[in-house]
Amino acid sequence: MAKFLVQKSGPLYGEVDISGSKNAVLPIMAASLLAGAECEIMGVPALKDVEVMCGLLRSVGSSVSEDYANNRIVISTPERVSDEAPYELVKKMRASILAMGPLLAKTGRVRIPLPGGCAIGLRPIDLHLKGLQALGAEITPKPGYVEAKAETLRGGNVYLDFPSVGATENIIMAAVLADGVSIIENAAEEPEIVNLANFLNKMGAKIKGVGTNTIKIEGVKELSGCKHSVIPDRIETGTFMIAAAITRGNLLIKNVLPNHVKPITAKLRECGVSVEYNDESILVRGDASPLRSTDIKTLPYPGFPTDVQPQFMALLTTMNGPSVIIETVFENRFMHVGELNRMGANIKIEGNNAILHGGRPLEGAKVICTDLRAGAALVLAGLAAEGTTEISEIYHIERGYSNFIEKFRKIGAAILKIDG
Ligand code: UD1
Repeated sequence: MAKFLVQKSGPLYGEVDISGSKNAVLPIMAASLLAGAECEIMGVPALKDVEVMCGLLRSVGSSVSEDYANNRIVISTPERVSDEAPYELVKKMRASILAMGPLLAKTGRVRIPLPGGCAIGLRPIDLHLKGLQALGAEITPKPGYVEAKAETLRGGNVYLDFPSVGATENIIMAAVLADGVSIIENAAEEPEIVNLANFLNKMGAKIKGVGTNTIKIEGVKELSGCKHSVIPDRIETGTFMIAAAITRGNLLIKNVLPNHVKPITAKLRECGVSVEYNDESILVRGDASPLRSTDIKTLPYPGFPTDVQPQFMALLTTMNGPSVIIETVFENRFMHVGELNRMGANIKIEGNNAILHGGRPLEGAKVICTDLRAGAALVLAGLAAEGTTEISEIYHIERGYSNFIEKFRKIGAAILKIDG
């Protein structure tokens, strides 16, 4: 199995270009199943998860042309598609569940295995199912998979108990072709949902209110194809902002939407990191003043993103003083804590709080990626640690970061991929 070897590096210095958002492109690809004509998607990141979604679309009958050199994919879906997603693909990636809404809307029936993906909690799909039920679907849970049927979906009202990103997306994708008006309350407000709705509206859908907690969808008879661009990845942006801070470096991060990383900017500034931005780039300087610790609490957007919590925790281990990190989105998102402690960090977990005493020097060790963002956190910690950090199970990182090694090496990180 391939590994990363990371050595103390930095200060990292130079420019990084951020790729398109993983969490935006996956639902957009799923939504292309609804299109009556070709969809051209631009700004597509070269990622394992995107390849898995391409495989899933092909498995139900779409034709997909992948052109990662130009960050572009083109998807054509015939009128008749299969209503069943294969287990081999779904088990690799939780976002496969996003095919459920579009397949149900298109074929009137869908069988989908229960999804896999990062092991960061129970991650049930009850809210997805509750939403589809409100649109008239009959849901039958079976061992290992779920079946949903609806001759005709009709508009309905859904109140989500938690603003789930995936459930909001699935319900939108089912409701766009439903008969009548649907309203989703306590909807997720993430920018990726806005990007998805803009795509669907270009195809002829009538979705209003995205980016707020109440979304209104007026069903239409059919959708056409379109050309659409994926937004920059705010989690990758946050990861590089933290890379500048943890190495006390100076990075110009380009192809970004600074509004999408406001909570990260605010917390870095609290720590004494200098963050300046214009419309499309962010300059982050970890060398501007001595850094001090702070606390973070993850929340649905526009709160501090759970997907940046592990990386920020790595940063906090390098600052003198105590910090409390409260994880409110996933119940099991501290698996990186044990690995950071192996590198010399001093972090204790109490329920959904991590209590950290920063400032103890980190030392390179053999560590394991337990999930995608935990993997990024270990790389960041490795850049600040004395000696060599050997990171295994790096396929997690490759699922969600495009050209990860190349981007880090270009700004001066001593990181190497080895096979074996
Ligand atoms: C998406 C992102 C993921 C991010 C997460 C939260 C994608 C492909 N992935 O995941 O990177 O970490 O949002 O920002 O976009 N929940 C339920 N029942 C459900 C659905 C969710 O209880 O039916 C719970 C989950 O277990 C979790 C919380 O709600 O505790 C948030 O999950 P959700 O917002 O749905 O995350 P995902 O869409 O899976």
